[in-house]
Amino acid sequence: GLDIAQAFFKPIQCSSTPSSAKRHTKISVIGVGNVGMAIAQTILTQDLADELALVDAKPDKLRGEMLDLQHAAAFLPRTKILASVDYSVTTGSDLCIVTAGARQIPGESRLNLLQRNVSLFKVIVPPLAKYSPEAILLVVSNPVDVLTYVAWKLSGFPSNRVIGSGTNLDSSRFRFLIADHLDVNAQDVQAYIVGEHGDTSVALWSGISVGGVPILSFLERQQIAYEKETLQKIHKEVVESAYEVINLKGYTSWAIGYSVANLARSILRDQRKIHPVSVLAKGFYGINGGDVFLSLPAQLGRSGVMGVTNIHLTDEEAQQLRNSAETILEVQSQLGV
Ligand code: NAD
Ligand code: LAC
Repeated sequence: GLDIAQAFFKPIQCSSTPSSAKRHTKISVIGVGNVGMAIAQTILTQDLADELALVDAKPDKLRGEMLDLQHAAAFLPRTKILASVDYSVTTGSDLCIVTAGARQIPGESRLNLLQRNVSLFKVIVPPLAKYSPEAILLVVSNPVDVLTYVAWKLSGFPSNRVIGSGTNLDSSRFRFLIADHLDVNAQDVQAYIVGEHGDTSVALWSGISVGGVPILSFLERQQIAYEKETLQKIHKEVVESAYEVINLKGYTSWAIGYSVANLARSILRDQRKIHPVSVLAKGFYGINGGDVFLSLPAQLGRSGVMGVTNIHLTDEEAQQLRNSAETILEVQSQLGV
C-alpha cells in the first residue's frame, strides 16, 4: 500500500523560491543541565528558532531531555529538536549557547570553577567553531567573563561574535529589587550592573531612571535627602542573589533562562537593543590592562556586538569598573590559553 504520508497529502505546485522563504534559524545549546534546559525551553516557548540542537556529554540524559521537549510539540510553535553527543549536530548554527560545565556548590565563588571549565571549553569550543564558522558564540558557563575570553581565543572568531551573558542577569535582579522597593514595574526601571558577573560587579546608580526620570539627580535637584545605605543594600543583595538561590535550591535556572532567551532574541531578530553583556572591553572606560571581557552596555544585533554605549560614569563607578577588570585579568593570567 501507499505510505500514509503520501496518501494523506497531495502535493501542490509551489512557486515560491528559496530567497522569498523566511530565513531558517538554528540555535545550539551545549550542556543540558539546569541552565541549558531552562534556556532551551524559553527559546521554544518564545519561537526563536526553526531548529534547536542540544549537545551534552551524557547520552542518556541528552536523549531524555530531547524526547521530553519533543513531547510538548502539540503545545509549542514548530521547532525541529535534535540532540547528539557528536558536534556535527550543531552544523550551520546561527547561535551557539554554551552552558556546559561545573557549577558552584553552596558558598563557592564562580571564579573557583575556572580550571575545571577551561578544560571543558578546550573540548567544546573548537568543534563548535568548525561546524558553525559564521555563528555567534554566547557563553553562559561560569566564570562567564573569563570563559568568554577563553572561547574567543579558542574559536578564533572576531570579538563581535563572542559574547558572555554577563550582567544581563544581574541587571534584571537589580531592576527587580529597585522596582520592588519603589513598587513600580521592573520593565519601567532602566538600571545597569556592569563589570564582572560576580562579586566585583558595579552598580551604575548615577544612570538609574524610572519611567524616564533619572532618579538620583532628580532627588538631588529637589534637595530631597535619601539614604545611601539603601542603595548599597540593594547592590549587596544583587551580588548575594545567586548564593542565596544556590543555598536554597542548589542552582539557578529560570532567571538565566529568560535572560539568555532575551539576548538570543535581540541577536537573531536584529533588535539592536542595548544589553549589559560581556564583551571585549579593552580601550573602553580607561580599561587598558589587557584583553579582558566584562559587561558593558552593548548594542546587539544580527552581527553580534554592534557597539558599546558611551554612558557617563562617576569617578567612583569608573574606578570600580577598572578594579573589576583587574580582578578578571588577574584570574586570566593564570590560564595557559
Ligand atoms: P548542571 O550540572 O545542571 O549541568 C551541566 C551540564 O554540562 C551537565 O548536563 C553535564 O553533563 C554537561 N557537561 C559536562 N561536561 C560536558 C562536556 N564536555 N560537553 C558537553 N556537556 C558537558 O549545571 P547548571 O546548573 O546547568 O550550570 C551550568 C553552568 O552555568 C555552570 O558553570 C554555572 O555556574 C553556570 N551558570 C551561569 C549563569 C550566568 O549567569 N552566567 C547562571 C547560572 C549558571
Ligand atoms: C547566577 C549564576 C550562578 O545565577 O552565575 O548568577
